[in-house]
Amino acid sequence: MELKMETVSKDSYFSKWNTMDNMDNYLISSYYHPIANLSQKMESLKVNRPYRVELITEKDSEDVLKMLKKFFFKDEPLNHFLNLGECKELEKYSLKCIGENCSFKAVHDNGDIIGVFISGLLKRPTPEDEAPQSLAEGCEHPKFKKIMQLMDYIDSNFNIFDVYPDANTILDGKIVSVNTNYRGLGIAGVLTEHTLNYMRQHDIPVMHVLCSSHYSARVVEKMGFHQVYELKYADYKVNGENPLLPAEPHVAARIMVREVNNTNSKI
Ligand SMILES: CC(C)(COP(=O)(O)OP(=O)(O)OC[C@H]1O[C@@H](n2cnc3c(N)ncnc32)[C@H](O)[C@@H]1OP(=O)(O)O)[C@@H](O)C(=O)NCCC(=O)NCCS
Repeated sequence: MELKMETVSKDSYFSKWNTMDNMDNYLISSYYHPIANLSQKMESLKVNRPYRVELITEKDSEDVLKMLKKFFFKDEPLNHFLNLGECKELEKYSLKCIGENCSFKAVHDNGDIIGVFISGLLKRPTPEDEAPQSLAEGCEHPKFKKIMQLMDYIDSNFNIFDVYPDANTILDGKIVSVNTNYRGLGIAGVLTEHTLNYMRQHDIPVMHVLCSSHYSARVVEKMGFHQVYELKYADYKVNGENPLLPAEPHVAARIMVREVNNTNSKI
């Protein structure tokens, strides 16, 4: 059998890996040394990025939603635990802050969106503001309502503006999602770096991320974020029961923060 040079994209590499029925097209060294070749491939993808990062605009809404419905709606740990399914409320939540122009997408050379980091801006409440609205109230999707209740619970126990008394605007990283075929390559970190650059350009001193997933917490930890709040899912009870217990390693919801431009925090 003739030895062929490897020229396949990662997508086709994985699909060939899965089917293995067309041995003529299959790289022989991958067959005999699959793990070594896979990790070499991953390393090469880290260095030779086959994607670019761009600002998400409102005209991307449909494509962003399509990507999120394929991945985030199913594999974010709480969505996965609840088997969320179709959820118009999460669709609305996902697109709500795109118009604020501080969200980024990773676009593969083939045009597909392979990662997104959707963020919005939090403004320091003033004494004239009305009491903040409960997120869960009025939510008609019973499963998504459980997630909104958790967020209401966290909001009632922790206020990020107490940690940063001098900050009037804080950037809130709301949704981070990467196509499963491209995980572990640092794409979420690259999207975070673009978000931090945006903050530097717009003089926003702090980024806040509520990490429901151990992996998203790892992403931002690697980018120099630190934890200011943690709620273990096992300690979160409603009427004496645990409504949200995703599988390990996702054991806690954690708020991670990172200051830019030498902003001082109280923690
Ligand atoms: C969280 C997420 C965006 C991370 O994206 P990413 O580009 O893979 O991030 P990284 O490459 O930095 O990897 C982060 C961690 O994911 C884990 N990971 C690595 N390879 C992985 C793979 N192939 N599949 C799944 N997770 C992997 C590792 O724990 C890694 O941390 P480490 O570098 O300390 O080992 C991605 O896992 C995802 O889309 N998850 C589902 C949606 C979700 O949970 N979003 C966060 C809600 S707050």
